[in-house]
Amino acid sequence: MGTTADNRVLGRSGIEVSALGFGCWAIGGEWHDADGQPLGWGRVDDEESVRAVRRALDLGVTFFDTADAYGTGHSERVLGRALGKRRDEVVIATKWGTLFDEEARTAYGADDSPGHARRALTASLRRLGTDRIDLYQLHISDADPERAAELRETCEEFVRQGLVRAYAWSTDDPARAAVFAQGAHCAAVQHRLNVLQDAPELLALCEKSDLASVNRSPLAMGLLTGKQAPGRTLEAGDIRSAPPAWLPGFAAGAGADPRWLARVEALREVLTSGGRTLAQGALAWIWARSPRTVPIPGFRTVAQAEENAGAIAKGPLEPGQSAEIDGILGR
Ligand SMILES: NC(=O)c1ccc[n+]([C@@H]2O[C@H](COP(=O)([O-])OP(=O)(O)OC[C@H]3O[C@@H](n4cnc5c(N)ncnc54)[C@H](OP(=O)(O)O)[C@@H]3O)[C@@H](O)[C@H]2O)c1
Repeated sequence: MGTTADNRVLGRSGIEVSALGFGCWAIGGEWHDADGQPLGWGRVDDEESVRAVRRALDLGVTFFDTADAYGTGHSERVLGRALGKRRDEVVIATKWGTLFDEEARTAYGADDSPGHARRALTASLRRLGTDRIDLYQLHISDADPERAAELRETCEEFVRQGLVRAYAWSTDDPARAAVFAQGAHCAAVQHRLNVLQDAPELLALCEKSDLASVNRSPLAMGLLTGKQAPGRTLEAGDIRSAPPAWLPGFAAGAGADPRWLARVEALREVLTSGGRTLAQGALAWIWARSPRTVPIPGFRTVAQAEENAGAIAKGPLEPGQSAEIDGILGR
């Protein structure tokens, strides 16, 4: 089956997924680095997370993205529990590369060795309660390209062993993504893409190499939902309350950057056309950007799951609307 309005095929793998995936970072709950820097999205209610995943399944979502590190294993466990007997209905993407202490809920480094990849894969399979990972992704965005070429071959070995169906690199660097693209079973690049942060070089690579473009931060980490407002601060424990250098749009202890919010307001009218909510419009922009895209918005409630899954039926923006947005943003 090929790409349809509601489905996408992950590059050359033939693996079919819903046009929208669900990102499972937030449902991992709180975790930190060794210096106490929050790496999660604050507290979560696991029972609500389970209900949200199941609601997404009922609404036709068949693609879930997590990582071993999210909540130091907790996200994978919650996802595995929520899917239960319905595991075979979905495509699971997870990631490896981070070193973490599950008990202390702390991440303390990265390991780009093939030996760690195998240990991490075994642990992810156990936490998710499955016998294979559909899309296995390298989570070290700036890994050394030579080491990555070795890891690409490790992934090919996992495919031969039936433990992994396809693999990808989660990176915003087209040159690094191209290293993985050389592998026969590489199916995607996971990279940031949203209406405020375009990624033309990565989209061109996906086109050239027949890869899916799996889009992290499609809602600009919540800026594109309408929920953030000037002066609204975020709880301690939420990474956005103490944003690292790679996370623009938020200021330490001060919430969303008013300049980013002004850009969102300037786009509101176009994005909310056709009865869409702002978040649905942000997803519609991504689908209009390229038919290879599969946005994976984060969620933590049933209401968010319903709103985000509801974007699928409304489809992409019209080409004229994307052009209008470029005009408004001066690109
Ligand atoms: N390095 C990597 O590989 C990497 C990095 C980042 C993300 N990812 C993946 O990409 C996924 C999504 O990216 P992201 O987490 O950066 O952020 P995002 O999808 O841009 O934003 C998600 C956040 O927006 C809010 N939200 C979602 N739907 C909403 C709705 N309908 N109404 C109001 N608020 C809503 C929620 O936060 P609040 O409820 O707190 O507002 C949610 O956690 C992650 O879950 C993860 O799977 C991967």
